[in-house]
Amino acid sequence: MTNTGKRHTARYFPGQHDLAGDARLYSDVFQRNAPPIIATLSQYLHGQSGTVLEIGAGTGQHAAAFALAFPSLTWLASDPFPEHLASIHAWRRQLLRDDRVPLELDAARDWGTDPEIRSQGPLTAIYAGNVTHIAPWAVTEGLLVGAGRCLAPGGKVFLYGPFRRGTEFFGEGNRSFDTDLRADNPDWGLRDIDHLEAVARPHGLALEDRHDMPANNHILVFGRVQ
Ligand SMILES: C[S@@+](CC[C@H](N)C(=O)[O-])C[C@H]1O[C@@H](n2cnc3c(N)ncnc32)[C@H](O)[C@@H]1O
Repeated sequence: MTNTGKRHTARYFPGQHDLAGDARLYSDVFQRNAPPIIATLSQYLHGQSGTVLEIGAGTGQHAAAFALAFPSLTWLASDPFPEHLASIHAWRRQLLRDDRVPLELDAARDWGTDPEIRSQGPLTAIYAGNVTHIAPWAVTEGLLVGAGRCLAPGGKVFLYGPFRRGTEFFGEGNRSFDTDLRADNPDWGLRDIDHLEAVARPHGLALEDRHDMPANNHILVFGRVQ
């Protein structure tokens, strides 16, 4: 898997930020994004049991914060890139004193048959933050296909990030962000909520809620139809 972006990147690299001298990577936006995301997820996940699969967990800072915020859940973080997996593992070790190894998962592949995921039983939820616009469409599609296979009845898919509705953007900033992303990689770009809804439906997923988030982001909540 190569990163073809010239200005935007879906990868975190050592040396990008101050390092603590271990595998932990740092995202510029973690501190701004995490509190309102947790407050929204809490409406659905507080006190729930079972496993939440996080796709494209990146540095693993969010995954560790989610695991702390929702202790009744098993938070299973995943990513396809080795340096991200090492960082996710290191953050978890440091903040949770837990040595659980994250899952190597490319959402564009047929991950719904992965034995480790199947061994969790039907999933309580799937979360992906800032993934759908900065990865090829096949990643979003694969996420929804796998969710249809692996989610428990009533289970949720949470997609956090910037989206559009048809040709309408939520703010001019998002419109130019979309243009920049597509210039970097024609297969990237803000996804259309109506299109996501139509693609999700045949996989037993219905769009239930759309939460406004800071900086013209949203959390889309899809529910697995019983
Ligand atoms: C902008 S980062 C977001 C990271 C993290 N979720 C966050 O909010 O900080 C995009 C993430 O998508 C992941 N990603 C890219 N291609 C992917 C794929 N094929 N399957 C799963 N994740 C992928 C990248 O490795 C990266 O962690």
